[in-house]
Parts: sequence; structure tokens; C-alpha cells
Amino acid sequence: MMIPIKTACQISNLTDRTIRDWITDGKIIGGKDDLTGILHVDKESLLKSLPTSICFYNQKGGVGKTTISVMMADYFDKKGVKTLLIDLDQQANLSQSYFDYDDIRGSSTLYNYLEDKTPLAKCIKTYNDNIDVLPADIRLSRKDNYDLDELDSIKADFIPIFRKYQIVIIDCPPSLSAMSKFGLLLSNYVFIPVIPEPYSFDGMFETLNNLKRMTKFCADFIDYRVIITNHEMRKLTLHENYVDMIKNDKKIRSAEQTIPNSVAMKERPLHKSNIFDMYGNDKGVKKLETLLDELYNAIYIERGNK
Ligand SMILES: Nc1ncnc2c1ncn2[C@@H]1O[C@H](COP(=O)(O)OP(=O)(O)O)[C@@H](O)[C@H]1O
Ligand SMILES: [Mg+2]
Repeated sequence: MMIPIKTACQISNLTDRTIRDWITDGKIIGGKDDLTGILHVDKESLLKSLPTSICFYNQKGGVGKTTISVMMADYFDKKGVKTLLIDLDQQANLSQSYFDYDDIRGSSTLYNYLEDKTPLAKCIKTYNDNIDVLPADIRLSRKDNYDLDELDSIKADFIPIFRKYQIVIIDCPPSLSAMSKFGLLLSNYVFIPVIPEPYSFDGMFETLNNLKRMTKFCADFIDYRVIITNHEMRKLTLHENYVDMIKNDKKIRSAEQTIPNSVAMKERPLHKSNIFDMYGNDKGVKKLETLLDELYNAIYIERGNK
């Protein structure tokens, strides 16, 4: 979609000059509108040339944050999008979806950056042409007493790194710990997987309240979505009722598509290769793709429409 340069400046925080330079350099698509003569910019190409950071967040564990983080990275990998994955969870499940734990502990991780300022570039491990990972390890449990000012100054070290990527995916731990707050501070988009059943439903409101409180400090926050996950669903009326409650609540911004229950997704950490290469024709994986298309649209197509 072509948008006027003034709107392009607003949604990108770039100056008019920078956008014009990027058009001249062929980095983004732009041209004068035939009728008005006003310079227009292709929104998708503009947004794709900026880093967009996304975190998967929920204070509850076992809702699928790590699993969907990996799926989203696989999705962007297929599209050739340069992606950084950040593991903020001391359990290091995300990191281990890409590297063996011995390999992770044998080199620097996020812990080393926090402990002695080991440069972030040294802690980031390359997985393939599109995917880099900033891994975590169990020692991250010692690093949880930062206040918001300290987290803000840590963020300042991350911002120049983000500029090397189009997408940054952040996997938060299951708590409102300093690392989770840091995940929110870093993010443009927050996606909250929720299992449609009583405890998870109650936890969702707490998570949304914390998000609301935190976003006051998150200058870069744009939007959030609750994403219903089916992976614990056994076709119970109870689940259906909770799906309806979430989807019909006008105060909750929920995704249309849900996360399917899928054995292929469960097995993904074992074979450590792209799910769309391994199981592209699997029914669950196809459903997953429709959800990821929806999130892609929210980020690149709907952003700034209002
Ligand atoms: N869509 C899914 N289909 C099948 N199993 C899933 C799915 N999402 C998560 N799981 C399983 O549920 C468990 C918890 O998922 P995980 O991603 O580790 O949650 P979290 O990061 O929120 O703690 C794991 O065993 C994972 O394999
Ligand atoms: Mg996890």
C-alpha cells in the first residue's frame, strides 16, 4: 500500500530526508502520486527496512510462548527475513531449539553480557543465513534484580544491535520478573498465548493489567494480541465457552486465528529444522501458517491504519 510521505514519517519515526534518501538508494519503494504530485512510499517495504520487535509474554508457563516463538522464526526464515531471537528465560528452551546446551554453555550468553558487559555481538550465535539467537542459560536466574532505570540503560545497548535485523522475537520467562519486564520494554508488539480454561483465563487478565502498567514505560509499544492456543484442548464445552468469552470481549484484542494443537510443533525442538520444510503439508502446520499470516498483516499491513 502506498502512503503519503508525511504518514510514512509518523509510523516510522524517520525524517522526511531519510525516507527520500532511502527511495533514491532503492532501499524502499516510492514515487510521486499522479493526481496530487505528493511523494508516496510503499508501507510494507518501509516497515520491512526497520526492525520490528515482538515478544511472547504471559506470566503463566506452559501456554506455548517458546513454541510459537520458534514457529514465527521459521515463518520469517522462509520469507528470507533477517531475524534475531532473544531468549530471556533461564530455562533456555528457546536456545535449545537451535543449539545443544553444551554448545550454549561453551560460549557467551545473555548472562555474560549482564554479568560483565561481554559485547552483545559476541554473545549472539548465528544459526543460519536468516536467524541469529541471543541464548540464555540457567545462570540468568542470578540476574533478576534490575529496576526500570537499569533496564532502560540495558535497552540502550540492544537498540544498535536491533538495527541489523528486520524482526526481533523475544521469548519471555513465565513470570513478571525483571527479564519479562525487559522483554516488554524492548517490544513493539506483545503477543499473549492463552489456553481457554479457568486458571489461564484469570491469569490472562493479570497479564493484561501488567502489560497496561508496563506500557506506560514502553515508548516503542504499538499493539498486542491475545492468541488462543488449542494445544491443551480436548474438544470440551468448557474450552469452547472460554474461547467465546475471549473472542466476544470487546476490551480484549484477540487474534482471529488460533494456535493449532500439533505434534509437528511439539517435535520441532528435536529435529531442529524449519517446520515448514519438514511438515509444510501437515494440517496443523497449515493452520499455524494462517495465524502467522494474520500476525504478519498486523505488523506490516495494518500498522498505522487508523
Ligand atoms: N501448538 C502446540 N501443539 C502441541 N504442543 C504444544 C503446542 N504449543 C506448546 N506445546 C507443548 O506444550 C508445552 C509447553 O510449551 P512451551 O512452548 O514450552 O510453553 P511456555 O514457553 O509458555 O512455557 C511443551 O511441551 C510444548 O511442546
Ligand atoms: Mg518458555
